[in-house]
Amino acid sequence: MKQDAVVSNKDSIKSQEQVDSEYILRVLEKHDENHGELIAILEEIQTEYGYLPEEALRIVSDKTNRSLVDIYAVATFYRTFSLKPKGKHLVCACLGTACHVRGAPRIIEEFEQQLGIKAGQTTEDKEFTLETVNCLGACALGPVVVIDGYYFSKVKKSKVTQLLDKAIKGFDELEIGKDKRIFPVDVNCPNCNHDLKDETFEVDGCPSVKLIISLDHKEGWLRLSSLYGSCNFSTEFEIPEGKVMNFTCPHCRKKLHSTSNCSMCGAPMISMLVSGGGIVSICSRRGCKNHMLDLI
Ligand code: FES
Repeated sequence: MKQDAVVSNKDSIKSQEQVDSEYILRVLEKHDENHGELIAILEEIQTEYGYLPEEALRIVSDKTNRSLVDIYAVATFYRTFSLKPKGKHLVCACLGTACHVRGAPRIIEEFEQQLGIKAGQTTEDKEFTLETVNCLGACALGPVVVIDGYYFSKVKKSKVTQLLDKAIKGFDELEIGKDKRIFPVDVNCPNCNHDLKDETFEVDGCPSVKLIISLDHKEGWLRLSSLYGSCNFSTEFEIPEGKVMNFTCPHCRKKLHSTSNCSMCGAPMISMLVSGGGIVSICSRRGCKNHMLDLI
């Protein structure tokens, strides 16, 4: 990474020697000891440390009577977990076929050159991790790069410096219709795989994502924006700020289950499948804007 653009923040990522066993014990106390909870435990530890330190996994193994091998099997199965410290900023560049033919290798080379690392590595100052993925589900807009959860489409080599500088300074507010970080995603029900798009109802000028919500014995529809990055939505009935809703598929009527809790407010995160591969998760609490995209 060019020296003038780096703001070193070595303290932002805790090192393995700094594992706080009391903290790990508190996380364990909060969760039951079944398989589903192990994922939630690991997610919480990863959120705290930016990766899964070996010492933390040993404590989890010891206190839950699970073998370390089992815990590592879960930790290495899910792409979301990392056994190595990651940088403060995550640059994820698509190297799928469509992006590849549109010049993704040259974009990745430019990131590698400017950061002074290879894809899969983290800069020495722990500012940036550079990763590649196989497809982000938006092939027509390639080359696609995701930085700290913000999408950038049709990325050019000449824009790489600007993107890295912006990542360090922090991305500002999103502006629908103008901001390339707002990105359309098609989502399906994780139970029946039915397309959740509703062409008859628009949010942000695009077909919405239709779900059924229930709260305090009331049930009605919720239409979410299909633009990743936008938190706009419309509901059939008023939902008080701070209330946690239950989500159901309008096609199979099955509940959308959660495998993790929101890192910002602790409410369950609701997951849907992304066409082209991946999972998009949104927080089930009214008013919490936490959302995540994990692409395969
Ligand atoms: S190949 Fe890059 S988004 Fe599909």
